[in-house]
Amino acid sequence: MTDLRNKIEEAVAFLRTRIAAQPPLGIILGTGLGGLAKEISAEVVVDYAEIPYFPLSTVESHHGKLIFGTLAGKQVVAMQGRFHYYEGYTLQQVTFPVRVMKFLGVSTLLISNAAGGMNPNFSRGSIMIITDHINLLGDNPLIGPNDDTLGPRFPDMSEPYSRRLIAVAEDVALDLKIKTERGVFVAVPGPNLETRAEYRFLRMIGADAVGMSTVPENIVANHMGMSVLGFSIITDECFPDTLKPANVDEIIAVANATEPRLTAIMRGVVERVRLEPDGQHGKG
Ligand code: HPA
Repeated sequence: MTDLRNKIEEAVAFLRTRIAAQPPLGIILGTGLGGLAKEISAEVVVDYAEIPYFPLSTVESHHGKLIFGTLAGKQVVAMQGRFHYYEGYTLQQVTFPVRVMKFLGVSTLLISNAAGGMNPNFSRGSIMIITDHINLLGDNPLIGPNDDTLGPRFPDMSEPYSRRLIAVAEDVALDLKIKTERGVFVAVPGPNLETRAEYRFLRMIGADAVGMSTVPENIVANHMGMSVLGFSIITDECFPDTLKPANVDEIIAVANATEPRLTAIMRGVVERVRLEPDGQHGKG
């Protein structure tokens, strides 16, 4: 067994001493989106610090807990607090929890983030359903020897965000009368925000929103055959010709103000999503 596989097994063995559930749904709660955590009736909460090989969260606003419980009648495991490349973690560390989730039974992964909006049709507080992504991190969590028991050396990325799950999310949003957008997410390393020239470039290469997370987790989830649904909350307007200085407090305030709408969509998706038996989750 590879070192990575051993570490996953050790983390899972530890968690198995605390939980019996095989949650089919995993959720990564991004910046200012912790509200969904309150909607989960938690059965077991485990600090990252206790879990073998889990990195520790350095950002104060991220709590660093795995929450096991039920949401809308389904078993879920949620990551409260996620890891970013700019914090100095390797992408293997950033994505380790996703690998552990897979081994706990997760086949469907829901991800959210805060992002800058570059599509001029978006405004602050827009909710974008991620249809595709561009990896500009200059790194990849799959670099290094491949463990064929985890996934293929050259994973397919023709549908990194499940079309089936996007359709469910759009149905839910329509029923709730919540407006959503669709778009391409580009991941940059950060931690600085972008220059005007960079926003112009990112828009030109086909991105609608930019942020510093999600893509590594998505790549690893796809490596292991999981279905992914991703949302970006547009927290600031990144139009190169009218760019104003970004205010991180304002970004967090917009994320918090948008949270109830995204939480409602997420809950609806969890309620409605059809879960395939583990190992058969085709991505179509
Ligand atoms: N750029 C990168 N990440 C972000 C932004 C942005 O403008 N807004 C929120 N996260």
